[in-house]
Amino acid sequence: MECVVQGIIETKHVEALEILLQGLCGVHRESLRIHELCLKSAPNLGLVSSELRLICDLEQPEPTWTVRHIGGSIRGAGAEQLSVLVRNVAESKVSKNALRLFYALGYKLDHELLRVGFAFHFQRGAQITVTVSSVNKMLKLHATDEAVPVTPGIQLVEVTAPASSENYTEVVAAVSSFCEYLAPLLHLSKPGVSTGVVPTAAAAAASLMSDGGSTTL
Ligand SMILES: *[C@@H]1O[C@H](CO)[C@@H](O)[C@H](O)[C@H]1NC(C)=O
Repeated sequence: MECVVQGIIETKHVEALEILLQGLCGVHRESLRIHELCLKSAPNLGLVSSELRLICDLEQPEPTWTVRHIGGSIRGAGAEQLSVLVRNVAESKVSKNALRLFYALGYKLDHELLRVGFAFHFQRGAQITVTVSSVNKMLKLHATDEAVPVTPGIQLVEVTAPASSENYTEVVAAVSSFCEYLAPLLHLSKPGVSTGVVPTAAAAAASLMSDGGSTTL
């Protein structure tokens, strides 16, 4: 399982966010350039349609592909109250000809994306990963060199942490409290809940940029 929240930030404030994250995490950022293929199978023979993502970080010295399936999220009265989404995920390494295999299994390419940005991985009550990326679409099939932004001037921020059915309460608490530090710059919420940019972002970014992140917001 994983705990996840998402938000958006204007590209002009990304540098300030990076300074803040650097100060909070005490680790260096890692660059990422993730090629993502979203595959869907048509419902047939009584099977429900399913969605898979083939993901490859092109920034790695030896890029490898991973197949990722996002399953259902936890349900029940408590789940609605949580500010963080807790969902099932399954991931597995696959060889680079996996796309042919999934085509043979009846999956079709729904869309492909290139996410370009950076990530921070650190321990803060949970193993938290923060990714900040611009989402690009390809003008030609698989042409990652000719990608154009889907939402120019806006980047996606995602905070995730691995969890299990035993420890998710603890992981949700760790992710929520981390998100509070980012609140002046961006609002993070469950995926699919659109929130927009926060009004305090420009002032918070200016203050971070002027003192290199030594101010606690
Ligand atoms: C929660 O469980 C997951 C899966 O076993 C593990 O990866 C993660 O480190 C655990 N987190 C905490 C805070 O115990």
